[in-house]
Amino acid sequence: MPGRPIVAIPGPTPVREEILAALAEPTFGHGQKEFVEVYRRAIAAFRDLVHAHEAVVIGGAGTLAMEMALVNCLQPEDDLLVVTHGVFGDRFAQMARRFRWNVRTLAPAQPGQAVDPAELAQTLRGGGFRAVTVTHVDTSTGVRAPVDAYADVLRASDAYFILDGVCATAGLPEPMDEWGVDYLVTTSQKAIGVPPGFALLGLSERALDRRAEMGESIGAYYADIANWLPVMRDPSGYFATPPTNMVVALERAFRLIAEEGLPARFARHEQQAHAMRAAWAALGLELLAAPGVEAPTLSVLRYPQGVDDAAFRAAAEREGAFLAGGVGALKGQVFRVGHMGNATRGELLTVVSAIESALNACGHPVEAGCGVGAAAALLEGATAPIGR
Ligand SMILES: Cc1ncc(COP(=O)(O)O)c(C=O)c1O
Repeated sequence: MPGRPIVAIPGPTPVREEILAALAEPTFGHGQKEFVEVYRRAIAAFRDLVHAHEAVVIGGAGTLAMEMALVNCLQPEDDLLVVTHGVFGDRFAQMARRFRWNVRTLAPAQPGQAVDPAELAQTLRGGGFRAVTVTHVDTSTGVRAPVDAYADVLRASDAYFILDGVCATAGLPEPMDEWGVDYLVTTSQKAIGVPPGFALLGLSERALDRRAEMGESIGAYYADIANWLPVMRDPSGYFATPPTNMVVALERAFRLIAEEGLPARFARHEQQAHAMRAAWAALGLELLAAPGVEAPTLSVLRYPQGVDDAAFRAAAEREGAFLAGGVGALKGQVFRVGHMGNATRGELLTVVSAIESALNACGHPVEAGCGVGAAAALLEGATAPIGR
């Protein structure tokens, strides 16, 4: 949209024209033949993307998907282990307290670090946890959890594995089957590149068995996967009205993802992250995430001394980039930049340029163009398919 700043927060991400156009198509009725096929393709595309046994794709937000994983797995008196690298990991613990499950959290010593897999192994040796939650990328700290290593540890336990892929899905691999993930929770507005509006849940066979075992004891209705699975298997059925225009847009987005190809898409995310980090280094900005656990989907950057959060982000917005501030205890100390989904080379360079200008305006002088110069060459060829 001419004149509007680029949405450079870590979700929602910029939405391609082709996907926006899908939203504007005449609304289908659920149960209408063409729509049933579109919904079927969207569900299958998501299921295949995360290697799930089955998938639930419904109207909602990522938080609903998180809650669905918990309520379809845990019962009164159950113990939950929450591995947290920030605000979004903590959210699982908040939910668990609300439902009165017993919750234990594992967090690193400092924000920006990751929990050591050995510590997870040691905690699990105590046994008794019904489930373990891990946030693949915590959007508050920019930490990418070492899921491979956690998966090795969790294989030796019978706890259910719940993975929050909200800030990762479609930007980095999430092979549920290989990792032994039972519930993969995610949403549409980040690396999938669709506006907000979905709760997406990938399920393992074990997760389905768990739901069957819980019978009528589940304290949920809209969030009960048993109500949705028949519709997911045959989208001509009805449980609650799906967001039909959004489903059309989601299916379009999955087609763009297939067109790009997953290996290319994951590689592009790594390339874009590498280029953005080169820009940050040139601008004298420091990532919060420790070396080795930096997420490829966003950057969480410490403010240089003296740079005011509100003034800086207002200046960046005037220069064309809408950035996110810190959340939780990091408010005022960091700012956050998304580089995921269908962000193009041109958009990312505009964002870096806006950050350069805002730093100059806010008491951290940098040489004009030095961030853009550092990123530009590394971004060569790193553009998502832009659609039609
Ligand atoms: C890692 C992570 N998990 C969960 C959520 C919650 O998603 P939503 O805001 O769609 O409810 C977010 C939101 O940013 C997130 O970043």
